[in-house]
Amino acid sequence: MENVAVRIRNLSKRYENGGKVTKALKNVNLDIREGEILGVLGPNGAGKTTLINILATLLIPEQGTINAFGIDVLKEPNKLREIIGYAGQDSEKSAYYRLTAFETLVYFSYTFRDVKKEDIEKEIKYISKKIGFSRKLNSQFSTLSGGEKQALIIMRALVHKPRLCFLDEPSKSLDPVTAKKFRAFLKDFVRKEKITTIVTTHNMSEAEEICDRIVLINNGRIKFIGTPLEFKNIIDYTDKITLNTHLNKLLITKLKKIPSVVRVKQTVSSTVIYTNKVNQSLLALTSILKNENLEPKITVKSATVEDAFVKAMGNGK
Ligand SMILES: Nc1ncnc2c1ncn2[C@@H]1O[C@H](COP(=O)(O)OP(=O)(O)OP(=O)(O)O)[C@@H](O)[C@H]1O
Ligand SMILES: [Mg+2]
Repeated sequence: MENVAVRIRNLSKRYENGGKVTKALKNVNLDIREGEILGVLGPNGAGKTTLINILATLLIPEQGTINAFGIDVLKEPNKLREIIGYAGQDSEKSAYYRLTAFETLVYFSYTFRDVKKEDIEKEIKYISKKIGFSRKLNSQFSTLSGGEKQALIIMRALVHKPRLCFLDEPSKSLDPVTAKKFRAFLKDFVRKEKITTIVTTHNMSEAEEICDRIVLINNGRIKFIGTPLEFKNIIDYTDKITLNTHLNKLLITKLKKIPSVVRVKQTVSSTVIYTNKVNQSLLALTSILKNENLEPKITVKSATVEDAFVKAMGNGK
């Protein structure tokens, strides 16, 4: 069995603003495994940032306990700070605008955390190359673009190789190429350095690609925890077959009778067949279409974490 790195019990947090109370976390229990990348998913306002900020000692909960690598996080916050990396949702606000990118990384690792200077300079060069940041290392923070600032904030959270790292929507504002580089780098780096990583994202394919497990939070409560594959199992189909045409009622009835077809949905110009055995459904479908002399364009798409998310939120079929 995997070692538990962080044990969270009965964690609750409420905010009070001008008499208005928001229960952001309600009795959360969660075990985070050593070395895993845990994705925290959930709609806006679900409580993801609240959870991360409590774990990173930036917020105090109203009740609960957190133990991380043997440290009682709520009682010994300074001890925890020595072993974490953190890139928050608004972290660019915490940067020093007149330092260069390189100086920022040196300051937050070597100066601040007692990592060897030679090691850190080597690491900065390595990480910058991996996420395509090398040519901006000598630029002042204030002159960086939004995405470049974000990339630096991510590097700052990882460069000192913390035992535990929190990344709150790290890929927001990264362009697709940089985001792809970041994902590849993150997966590789945290595995190699055994960094237990908690990451939030609204990008479902990103969650699927990088996370060992995902936890779904809605309205302050955990609704699901498991692998992306297990998450996808909450939906009753494995693939969607789309035809770029509307079919008559008789044909729809025939399609519904194919044993592997879970359901069929129509729009004005398309027909979507949900199946749990895509090959079987395709064979039966092509023979039905052939008999009718129909040759619509057929596309097949596997179910995604996004489909499961929509279903879990109660907006999908
Ligand atoms: N400082 C605050 N004062 C009052 N309410 C707050 C405060 N911060 C967050 N909240 C409320 O707590 C709830 C959880 O917010 P949180 O920021 O944790 O959500 P989130 O899951 O990170 O959302 P997003 O995906 O939009 O970042 C929301 O209802 C939010 O409005
Ligand atoms: Mg948030």
